[in-house]
Amino acid sequence: MSFRSYKDKIEEGDTAILYLSNNLYAIDVQPEMKNKKGELIENVYQTPFGALKVKTLIGAEYGSRVELSKGWGHVLQPTPELWSLTLPHRTQIIYTPDISMIMLQLDLVPGSIVLEAGTGSGSLTHALIRRVRPHGHVHTFDFHEHRSKVAQEEFMEHGIADFVTAKHRDVLADGFGEELNGKADAVFLDLPSPWVGVPHALAAIKDQGGRFCSFSPCIEQVQRTCLALQEYGFQEISTMEVLQTEIKVSRRTVPVRDLSFLKQKSSTSPVEEKPSSETSYVVGTWPQSTPGHTGYLTVATQPPYARSKAKKSKPENDDDKSSSENGDKMVIDETV
Ligand SMILES: C[S@@+](CC[C@H](N)C(=O)[O-])C[C@H]1O[C@@H](n2cnc3c(N)ncnc32)[C@H](O)[C@@H]1O
Repeated sequence: MSFRSYKDKIEEGDTAILYLSNNLYAIDVQPEMKNKKGELIENVYQTPFGALKVKTLIGAEYGSRVELSKGWGHVLQPTPELWSLTLPHRTQIIYTPDISMIMLQLDLVPGSIVLEAGTGSGSLTHALIRRVRPHGHVHTFDFHEHRSKVAQEEFMEHGIADFVTAKHRDVLADGFGEELNGKADAVFLDLPSPWVGVPHALAAIKDQGGRFCSFSPCIEQVQRTCLALQEYGFQEISTMEVLQTEIKVSRRTVPVRDLSFLKQKSSTSPVEEKPSSETSYVVGTWPQSTPGHTGYLTVATQPPYARSKAKKSKPENDDDKSSSENGDKMVIDETV
């Protein structure tokens, strides 16, 4: 339950984050666990600094130091940021630098309705939930049934299931569902063919308009998505890449020249230059290598009433499948 609200003490059933020598581990705070034979045994979490009896965490304060058999660590309150760094990976995930930009670009506020596909490992979903709750809702979709089910179970375990609906659905083939037509403030796609989802996003976004964002590792995916967005009447289309650079703070000792001799008039009284002295400074140093590429974020605005201006028509020929692989295609009616 600890994802739902901040609290002082760890309770049974919480997910606690163990911070240990610059590494993070998510621990399900259950005093017992099942072994391979299905028998209940004491839950002992193994770390590089020895074993932790999980039951000793119950009642401990978040942020406090915990003893391990060969060292010690600290237990932290879980946040979407810490969860992204510790969650069990079922897919590639989106990390905090991209997530921050997605939140901003989707204009999300508490109360927003946001649609997401695919759910994947639920990394982004946790951040979306925190942003839109308590009155908003996240509808997240994945066509991989097991992933969708496990994500829903995690949302329940984390006490945030009432802010999210996880559905097993192929959104590119079947859209987001009739019941969500015109309901969304924002749509986010992290799928291999996001351009196919553009007409479904158009159908889902509210009459008063909304925002679209897709995450794609390859520029060819971006190109096709931009073309589809343009075709379906989206505006303010732009693509960006978020590259986080960490500046390391350290102490450096450097020789410093004494330049006081420059104040003297050399013609009247020439003075000797004093030797350099060593001085220690706190400095920021830039990384030697540049951060790696994760993906491009393509964002766009659906202007008000774009959906009602769009009408359904059949594609003119079978070769024209660049925007929809479903056959049906929506076009913007310029005359309205
Ligand atoms: C890269 S993962 C998403 C990761 C997620 N953004 C995160 O941060 O954890 C992509 C997911 O999209 C799902 N997917 C791919 N095509 C889909 C489709 N047509 N409809 C629904 N889900 C789809 C895959 O099953 C996969 O779980």
